[in-house]
Amino acid sequence: MVSWHLALNLNLLLLILIVPSLEGGRSLCQLNGPCSVNVAQDVQDDSTTWAVLVAGSNEYYNYRHQADVCHAYQILKRGGLKDENIVVFMYDDIAHHASNPKPGVIINNPKGHDVYAGVPKDYTRESVTSSNLYGVILGDKKSVKGGSGKVVDSKPNDRIFIYYTDHGGPGTLGMPTSPHVYAKDFIEVLEKKYAAGTYKEMVIYVESCESGSIFEGLLSEKMNIYVTTASKADENSWGTYCPDMEPPPPPEYDTCLGDLYSVSWMEDSDRQNSNGETLEQQYKTVKVRTYNNNSSEGSHVMEYGTKDIRSESISLYQGFGASNVSDVFTNDDNNIPMGVVNQRDADLVFFQRKYDKMMEGSQEKTEMLKQMNDIKNHRSHLDASVDAIGAKLFGSGNGRLVLTSLRAQGMALVDDWGCLKSMVRVYEKHCGVLTQYGMKHMRAFANICNQNVSGAAMEEASIGACSGYDQIGQWSPLKKGYSA
Ligand SMILES: *[C@@H]1O[C@H](CO)[C@@H](O)[C@H](O)[C@H]1NC(C)=O
Ligand SMILES: *[C@@H]1O[C@H](CO)[C@@H](O)[C@H](O)[C@H]1NC(C)=O
Ligand SMILES: *[C@@H]1O[C@H](CO)[C@@H](O)[C@H](O)[C@H]1NC(C)=O
Ligand SMILES: *[C@@H]1O[C@H](CO)[C@@H](O)[C@H](O)[C@H]1NC(C)=O
Repeated sequence: MVSWHLALNLNLLLLILIVPSLEGGRSLCQLNGPCSVNVAQDVQDDSTTWAVLVAGSNEYYNYRHQADVCHAYQILKRGGLKDENIVVFMYDDIAHHASNPKPGVIINNPKGHDVYAGVPKDYTRESVTSSNLYGVILGDKKSVKGGSGKVVDSKPNDRIFIYYTDHGGPGTLGMPTSPHVYAKDFIEVLEKKYAAGTYKEMVIYVESCESGSIFEGLLSEKMNIYVTTASKADENSWGTYCPDMEPPPPPEYDTCLGDLYSVSWMEDSDRQNSNGETLEQQYKTVKVRTYNNNSSEGSHVMEYGTKDIRSESISLYQGFGASNVSDVFTNDDNNIPMGVVNQRDADLVFFQRKYDKMMEGSQEKTEMLKQMNDIKNHRSHLDASVDAIGAKLFGSGNGRLVLTSLRAQGMALVDDWGCLKSMVRVYEKHCGVLTQYGMKHMRAFANICNQNVSGAAMEEASIGACSGYDQIGQWSPLKKGYSA
């Protein structure tokens, strides 16, 4: 900033040279002033901004996560980031899904502007995995399997923006292909990246239930990484723009279009038409909106890591592009609570809508009912069996208390992450896969480890709780993959 004026002339010269090669050139120059200065700053900085965007789910009832990621891509693209610097993880089963009322189009808000066009298909289908995510962040081309092979090949002076959206649970982020991302593994990847010295600063935004637990007590403040999460370590996060809620999606949509924290930061970025907004201002704006007027259906946006970075402009991470105001959707009054649904129940909203529309007495209606009942039965089984295991291990009066107990703020979910994974595997072997819903029980397995319960005792308790479960075949980890 000190050499701003001095640098300007040189920068304008450089700008003339680089503009033709910028993929975001059209929209970059919708506003001459701030946008050209920003591009010039990047040149002066000799700094490239990289981004990794991750939608951790698949299936049409999870439409919103991929819609979020597509929208994020459009913001970065418009901001002048190049496709070669944006790595997208997206299962890519939404745009052309039979349930999509607008084939080939994905929307992220009720106004219905397409965000799918142009999104790079770097890691899709079975290549959306935790190990590919780690390889991409580390810039380790050799370790990634499938996909475009694009990785974050960043230099010491570069900035990195990571955005993840999906279901999660204490200590975990979901992935469409097992195993899930475990907080400890993810943090270790960041530590390796830091040790390699291949970035200047990093910003990470995470939306998922219990997203605070990914960083709480784990992320050092010294790595030049600033994080915000949708929720505290023990809170849900919320889907929004859902059918029969306010504001609703267009009537032909049976699924939620976005997630509350995610649309809050993206609509804030969309609204920006100067590059002045800082990360801190965005955090505060998003916090208010995600709090949802203190209704019980909202969450506390959290910050972790290196807070000094907050004073920087969001444009350093998201680029700066003049927004096309007619495309921007925003709930005009942040004080009006948004209609939301707990991430874990958003699938049921979709199934119920489909069911209600089906012809009375039709075979598809019968099948849909069976599918819904199977899901609900498995959920009840997961809840009941975790309870039963708690009772066996810690006594019937005490079990639930131990399994749900929260550690002090600033402490990680569990000390021994290897133990956590092995407890999850023992449980899934005897009781069936946790599924997106059952991720909410991760704290129970963590507390079992924190209580030093042996693997053998856990195995015995799991067998006792689940040997009578007659649906195990359908939910077997051998079929669906262990989540750990
Ligand atoms: C939010 O609501 C809770 C109880 O529902 C209350 O204890 C708390 O003070 C409220 N916070 C604000 C900022 O209004
Ligand atoms: C802005 O968005 C509208 C509606 O999507 C579109 O018709 C128009 O062409 C866009 N304008 C620019 C400059 O991209
Ligand atoms: C926000 O919450 C307050 C306190 O619960 C309530 O009185 C107010 O009506 C709410 N605002 C809106 C717009 O619903
Ligand atoms: C578990 O074991 C560790 C290490 O031996 C010990 O420090 C801790 O107090 C034990 N915790 C419980 C609840 O027994």
